[in-house]
Amino acid sequence: MAFPQQRLRRTRRTPGLRALVRETGLSPEGFVYPIFVAAGEDVRRPVDSMPGVYQLSINNAVGEAKRVRALGVPAVLLFGIPDHKDETASGAYDPEGIVQLAVRAIKDAVPELIVITDVCLCEYTSHGHCGVVEGETGEVMNDVTLELLARTAASHAEAGADIVAPSDMMDGRIAAIRSELDREGFENTPIMAYSAKYASAFYGPFREAAESAPRFGDRRSYQMDPANAREALREVRLDIEENADIVMVKPALPYLDIIHRVRQETDLPLAAYNVSGEYAMIKAAARQGWLDERSVVLEALTSIRRAGADIIISYFAPQVAEWLAE
Ligand code: PBG
Repeated sequence: MAFPQQRLRRTRRTPGLRALVRETGLSPEGFVYPIFVAAGEDVRRPVDSMPGVYQLSINNAVGEAKRVRALGVPAVLLFGIPDHKDETASGAYDPEGIVQLAVRAIKDAVPELIVITDVCLCEYTSHGHCGVVEGETGEVMNDVTLELLARTAASHAEAGADIVAPSDMMDGRIAAIRSELDREGFENTPIMAYSAKYASAFYGPFREAAESAPRFGDRRSYQMDPANAREALREVRLDIEENADIVMVKPALPYLDIIHRVRQETDLPLAAYNVSGEYAMIKAAARQGWLDERSVVLEALTSIRRAGADIIISYFAPQVAEWLAE
């Protein structure tokens, strides 16, 4: 029986009824907040294209970690901006590197905060690519890079990282990292794999924040083609075979279909990365007075959850935690 017996508006009449039948919701528990840690003392350098986001020296990153934890955000994701870059990304796996020092300082100050580290070489290589580059051809070499990624992940675990998150998109990196972690006695450190990571123009502001734009070429020989969906499922299946503990889709909003399909493909926890360009777009429109920031942010993040993500990595995390607490 349809209208007039059926009226969907019946359960939309009051805030109480709407809340009663609500299918998904946002809570701070599933949020991860990215932090850019820079070398130097007492640095707090604003990122122009990401209002509200800063490059922070370790002391200020610790302050930020305390602040977000107090708001109920359970986890941070650390990116390092080293003061030295070279061909082999030595700063990435230096036991005294910027991320390793930051992990120790944050775990000391806020032990209950979950510290996740981004495992990639692009912030540490002189050319800005996510792996070792073959001099003559400019090709990013897969198998040599695996060793460095594995060393990087183990050095993060050694420093006290709770989760390592490889974002490089080399083939075989989850297996390489898992076996290195196990060999070094970190068999309890989970891997959050950036499984379906697309070659996206939405990373533009991040590359300003992390000073990691490639000096030549682009990342399309390792990150995924935005036109492909089935291939994302292959990436996810391979990462699961290689024993990833959490899989990720990145970016989030332009790839809600991928989040939805991955959700149906696996029972693993699923993360989605609401990336820098998604943040910058909303901030820019809100500043112009063209969108209402709070409503748009809550709607956008709810759509990521509705598509099937358990974990949302977002620069909006502390702000959303504040709004949800009101
Ligand atoms: C490192 C990395 C990138 C992002 C996360 N890890 C940049 C890239 O791949 O170029 C992007 C995050 C964002 O845009 O917020 N490889």
